[in-house]
Amino acid sequence: MSVMKYTFAAELQYKSHTDSAQLDGFDVDLTQAPPKQWLPSNVAMHKLDAFSPLPHDLVGKYDIVHLRLFVVLIKHNNPVPLLRNLIGMLKPNGYIQWDEHDHVSQKVVTADPAINPKTVQAVLDFVRPIDDMMGPRTWVSALGDIFAAQGLLRPRLYRFALPPELYRYDTDNVLSVYEEVSRKILDRRDKRDGEELRKLISVAYVDSQQGVAICHDKVVVVGQKPKEHHRGT
Ligand SMILES: C[S@@+](CC[C@H](N)C(=O)[O-])C[C@H]1O[C@@H](n2cnc3c(N)ncnc32)[C@H](O)[C@@H]1O
Repeated sequence: MSVMKYTFAAELQYKSHTDSAQLDGFDVDLTQAPPKQWLPSNVAMHKLDAFSPLPHDLVGKYDIVHLRLFVVLIKHNNPVPLLRNLIGMLKPNGYIQWDEHDHVSQKVVTADPAINPKTVQAVLDFVRPIDDMMGPRTWVSALGDIFAAQGLLRPRLYRFALPPELYRYDTDNVLSVYEEVSRKILDRRDKRDGEELRKLISVAYVDSQQGVAICHDKVVVVGQKPKEHHRGT
């Protein structure tokens, strides 16, 4: 069996406990991957632009294709070009699993009504124009139907609300992503904007320790490529 994942390499190592599978991980930026000497022998990382036409040697190669957390990379509310590449990588009868955050369900919560969430909310308000530039993200909750329209069999969308014990962990993750946004996007446009967002984030980190959280649902969508696959519209 071959399994292919776009993933953080650390998680790849954790999941590669079976020696009988070959796990190929793909990312456009391999600087994030550990040296190959530190990967299990059945795990390999490859450079791939997932949005470009699929290289011939990857067509029909994998039993399972797994993709996670591409929500911020999908443009025009349309994951179909990427999905077609993923389906192209599958053997007939192979399975696809796509894990995503549903940002549409995003909300700010507090552990106690007396806690003021205004700085965490201010961080979200600050980054909203950048988020909005990418267009709506309603495709995430429609992904099961999109799988069906692309000819995948038995598409199922599973929705998971974040358990409260993970609120803090998830919030710190989200804040660190926005810190990256402040450096990689805002600083390049106007350093003052980047600095302003980082100031808000440093207060938001403290608020998150007091019990303010940003949470959104996760969705997991699975489907099977038919023996004879006809591309959808
Ligand atoms: C939010 S991270 C998710 C990483 C990993 N899949 C996970 O779930 O932990 C998004 C990843 O997509 C990668 N990426 C960005 N553009 C890409 C592209 N065109 N093709 C493939 N990977 C890309 C980034 O380098 C980054 O590692």
